[in-house]
Order: sequence, then structure tokens, then C-alpha cells
Amino acid sequence: MTDFSTIYKLSLVAVICFIKACSSSCPVLECWFVQEKAGRGGGLTAATSQEKSLLHIRTGAHSHGADFSQAPSDINPDRVYFITDPAATLCQRSLNPPRGSVQKPQCEINPFLPQPSTLKWVAPLTDSALSPAYLQADWFSTALQGLNDELAISTIMRAPTATKEHNVILTVTSKTVSVQSRLGEPVLLDCSFWVDPSSPLSGSGFAVEWRYQFRGDGRLVLAYDGKTDRLADTREEGATLDFEGLHKKGNASLILQEAKVHHSGMYICTVYLPYLVAQVAVELEIVEPPSLSIHPSPLPLTAPGQTFTVECEASGFAPLSLELSWELKGADGKSSPLGSGSVTGHRQAWDGTYSQSSRLELDPTKLDLGRGGELTCVAVHLGGTRRASVTLNAIGFSTPSIEDSMAMVGVALVLYGLIMFVSWTCTGSGSNGAGQQDKKDK
Ligand SMILES: *[C@@H]1O[C@H](CO)[C@@H](O)[C@H](O)[C@H]1NC(C)=O
Repeated sequence: MTDFSTIYKLSLVAVICFIKACSSSCPVLECWFVQEKAGRGGGLTAATSQEKSLLHIRTGAHSHGADFSQAPSDINPDRVYFITDPAATLCQRSLNPPRGSVQKPQCEINPFLPQPSTLKWVAPLTDSALSPAYLQADWFSTALQGLNDELAISTIMRAPTATKEHNVILTVTSKTVSVQSRLGEPVLLDCSFWVDPSSPLSGSGFAVEWRYQFRGDGRLVLAYDGKTDRLADTREEGATLDFEGLHKKGNASLILQEAKVHHSGMYICTVYLPYLVAQVAVELEIVEPPSLSIHPSPLPLTAPGQTFTVECEASGFAPLSLELSWELKGADGKSSPLGSGSVTGHRQAWDGTYSQSSRLELDPTKLDLGRGGELTCVAVHLGGTRRASVTLNAIGFSTPSIEDSMAMVGVALVLYGLIMFVSWTCTGSGSNGAGQQDKKDK
């Protein structure tokens, strides 16, 4: 009987542990709490302070995400927060690494000040007066980056004043933080948002803005006022949103109809609610491998002591970085490197793609050509490695090519001419002698 109850107790414990393990898929996030230091007499530089913080994530106010008793000693208890995220956006696996793993998701939490925006496509959101009581609370924003650099989440949270019980009100997520595309293909930059349906801010409209940023150059790609269903006029050609998905599911992904080289750069997806704003960044790189061609092709005949130049042109590639080299494959199938040759500067075509060449001076006497071989130009590029080859024939060793045969015919003709000339001179002198004979006879 006692045995039975022990087994019963043990299995109960196991079940409880299992349930706990399942429900604790919402992480306890280590986070940096960053805020501007209270200015002393208004200094010119806004100094920031940084403190370690801990965010306990759960999906409901009464669910227990994880063991709350394990706050590390180096974290100020005032910086331990309990965050309710009904949509479980923060419970994704890439924010919850296995215990003891070295890699940790990146997290920053800041105080946030709700305020109306004056941007043309956002201003209509705050036309109607909203109960200011709702805004009077402690507001925070968080920026999170998952492992593997795939996921970025930005949230706005509200806590009734002086509590540490935060509720997620707005999240903006991108599942493609880094996107690569070939030239000319359609591109999708993922961005979606979620608004707490129980918030008074839900249902009073939203706005979406995509901005482009590259080396200090910024421009508006697209801005959409979801309240009045209007797009700003400064829209980039070929850039659009899935408006149905946007209104139904908060799918704010940017669609670029045709990838061009100048599209490479950073895109910022910003979602506005009345008084609130959150954004995530997505990096796009247009990667196009080169096309190779070798000149001259076919290669001229090589004879001992005769050097010649061969050129390999790589064109239509982006980004710029490219490594060109040469290889020689002998008739025995063995490859040997011939170095990079002399590489020219790059040129940029009208479509933004680059081209670059390498010239190689070949001295057949220095190469162990044997019966010829195959000369290959190798281009190593971010978009993949490309190769182009030509055959190399050495006179005297190879099976006769057309050129060889023509040369042989030429030699034969010359020999034939020589024989004819010699025989003509001989017979000519013979008839001369006969003539003399004739004279004598007279
Ligand atoms: C968002 O919309 C785009 C374009 O219609 C679609 O390809 C993508 O799958 C959508 N994303 C989600 C999460 O539904």
C-alpha cells in the first residue's frame, strides 16, 4: 500500500514538473534597462545609465511562466518585471535558449513617453480626444533580438503607476531580420504587429511607415494611414503592402516587386497607434553572382617560346567584392593554381551591377603543359562561385586540330612547290643541253 502511494506521489510530481516545463516556454529574459540620466542643470550631452534587469514573461496574469524565486543577486529587485503578453509574441523559441547556453537573446528596455505624432499620416490617429487616464501609467518600450539574428521584436508595455506588472499593448515583429535576394526577383520584408484588443487604443486606427536607410542616406519608402485608408504620395515605385492582410492580420510586410541593386540597405518598419509607436529594422542585400567570359576563345595555338595573354571578364555582379583567380588542369586531370593574374579596377553598369576583369600572361615553356589542358577562370562571390574554362592546345603534342591540319597542308604545299621548282630547273638545263647538241649538229 505504501509502495503504491509512493508511486502515485512520484508520478504526480512528474506530471506537475512536465506541466511546468511546458508552460515555462515563456522565457525569463535578461535585459538591459537603459534610461537617460536625470540632467543636472541641463548638460549638453544626454548621458544614459544602464542597469541589469530581468523580465518574467507570461501569457496571462495568473499563469506562472517560470520559477520566480531565482532572481540573481546582481539584479536590483526594482528592475525585476512581470510581463503579461497575451499573444505570446515574447514566448518564441529564439528568445528562450536552453538553460546554460552561452548565446543569449539581446534585450533592452526603456521608459517610454506616449505622445501624439505630427507626421501627416499619423496625425489623424489622435484627432479624437482619448481618455488621458489610460495614458497616465508607467510606459516602457523593449527591443529584442532573437538568437540566429532572425527575429526582431519591439514592444510597448503599460504598467499601472508604481506597479511592476506590465501588460504588452503593442508588438511589432519581423521574422526576417536579414534578407538576401537575387536581382529582379520580388522581395518580401516581413513585419507584423499585434495590438491588445482590450486596450482603448485598439480599434482607433493605426499607421504603417517603411523607411530606407543606407550610409546616412534616408528616405521614405511608403507610408500608409490605416484610419483614412490613404497612402502618402512620396511612395517608391514598385513598393506596396498587402492591404487586406494588414487590416485583417496586422501583416505590414513590405513587398518590392523587383529587386534592384540600389534596394540594398536597412529598412525600418514603424507601426503607429494613437500616442504609441514601435519599430523593427530589416536588412536587405541584393546578391547577384557574376557571369564569366574568357577572351580569346578558343585560345590561339601555343608553341614553345610564344607567350600570350588571356582575359576573363566577370560582369553583372553585386555587391562589389569579388575574387578572381586562374587554374590549369593538365591532361592528367591534376589542377594547379596560376594565381589571380592582373585584376583591373571595377566598372559599374547602368543597373548598378559591377564588372571586373583579370588578365593572365601565359608562357607555355614555364608551364608543364604536356599534351595541353584546360584553363579555368574562377570567380568567388557572395552569391556563389562561378567558373569558365577554355582548352589549351600545345603544338606537337596534341592530336591535330583544324589549325594544325591547315598548317600541315601549308607545309605540304610549300614542299610540293619546292620539288616542282627543283625538277623544273633540272629538266630546263636538260633541254638546254639538247639545244646545244642541235647547234653542234648544224
Ligand atoms: C504577409 O503578406 C505577404 C504578402 O501577401 C505574404 O506573402 C506573407 O506570407 C504574409 N505573412 C503572413 C505572416 O501572413
